[in-house]
Amino acid sequence: LLSLEAAQPLKGVRVLITSGPTHEPIDPVRYIANRSSGKQGHAIAAAAARAGAEVTLVSGPVNVLDPTGVKIVKVESARDMLAAVEQALPVDVAIFAAAVADWRVANAGEQKIKKKAGQSTPELALVENPDILSTIAHRTQQRPPLVIGFAAETENVVANAKDKLARKGCDWILANDVSPATGIMGGDRNTIQLVTGAGVEAWPTQSKEEVAAMLIDRIAAARNGAKK
Ligand code: CTP
Ligand code: CA
Repeated sequence: LLSLEAAQPLKGVRVLITSGPTHEPIDPVRYIANRSSGKQGHAIAAAAARAGAEVTLVSGPVNVLDPTGVKIVKVESARDMLAAVEQALPVDVAIFAAAVADWRVANAGEQKIKKKAGQSTPELALVENPDILSTIAHRTQQRPPLVIGFAAETENVVANAKDKLARKGCDWILANDVSPATGIMGGDRNTIQLVTGAGVEAWPTQSKEEVAAMLIDRIAAARNGAKK
């Protein structure tokens, strides 16, 4: 019995995870996207479910298998993702692994944009998307007790992550080196530095499944009062 309990360190804990890219429409047949595969967020969802958590996974369009034992809400755009996240509250832990598009097209066409002989090429005006992590972390009601973000950086990884931790109001940031030499987006491995109010912990380069397991471990420890 004891070992069974130890195997379910997040039993009954409500965990919300965002994963994957978002797609921002240009017109009904075209969109802006990014290289996020969803592998890291989905691996975290799977690991949380194995740890006994009640998991809601809000996912943008990805080509990875749905993790088992998880409630999956599929969305396309950043605004849809924010709505789905708010719908999933309250939760105990929220992990924002999605690569949310920073901008959407302001003048998205209702019909397919057509080439017209002799006319100039279309121009896309961009407007900033809502910051889902920051919105949730700054809530006064139903703010999850533990809010965790990622920071995809190609340089000054820890400094940028500390800045994001403060700006976005979250509790932890998993700073993620996505420079081409290290952790190119969409790959199978990740080099993480865990940035919290208590300091910075450098994790070895490891598979996204191993990153997920380590994160679940840290969350379980924090919930047991070991640290936050
Ligand atoms: N994030 C979010 N909503 C957005 C943008 C980012 O929820 N509109 C979340 C991501 O899921 C991640 C964290 O914020 O957990 C940091 O994302 P990142 O792209 O690194 O940060 P930005 O603030 O968008 O800064 P920049 O892309 O300019 O580095
Ligand atoms: Ca961004």
